[in-house]
Amino acid sequence: MNETSISVDALQSTQVVELSEHVRQDIDAWLQRYPDDQKQSAVLAALRAVQHENKGFLTTPLMNAVADYLDMPKIAVYEVASFYSMFETKPVGEHCIAVCTNISCMLKGGYDILHHIEKKLGIKVGESSEDGKFFLKKEEECLAACAGAPMMQVNHVYFEDLTEAKVDEILDNVESLAAHHG
Ligand code: FES
Repeated sequence: MNETSISVDALQSTQVVELSEHVRQDIDAWLQRYPDDQKQSAVLAALRAVQHENKGFLTTPLMNAVADYLDMPKIAVYEVASFYSMFETKPVGEHCIAVCTNISCMLKGGYDILHHIEKKLGIKVGESSEDGKFFLKKEEECLAACAGAPMMQVNHVYFEDLTEAKVDEILDNVESLAAHHG
């Protein structure tokens, strides 16, 4: 979704939500690092916490709640959310997968890994699984982990030296991985 469409959605959104206690505590911990008039410095951490709690994506009401909490203009929060690729502003599967298919990973079977995941989840790149559990976000460019090729990120955590069996193990146990990595 591009910035303009977020803004249009935002203008149409009258729904108001409150940040959960857990998310507010998380943001407050970050806010302690910054002066009172620099609350916006916590916006990345805040959006990350909100997205995690909302199972993988941001909504306009949630971004508005972040803006209110950090005393920021709403549009500034939308801009951050649309600029950074780690944020999703439309509904997607909860666990985000990105497989590197750049040169080193490609030479070590990156496409075999990608196709294995597509077959296992019954989706193509850019799609989410029907159960809402996975989002196969994209083919990554080099993530500077070539020594561990082929590799992928799941919820932005690196997994290297992949085999199909290893991928199965990672995806079949994704809930416990998520618990470890927050
Ligand atoms: S090519 Fe995949 S991490 Fe470098």
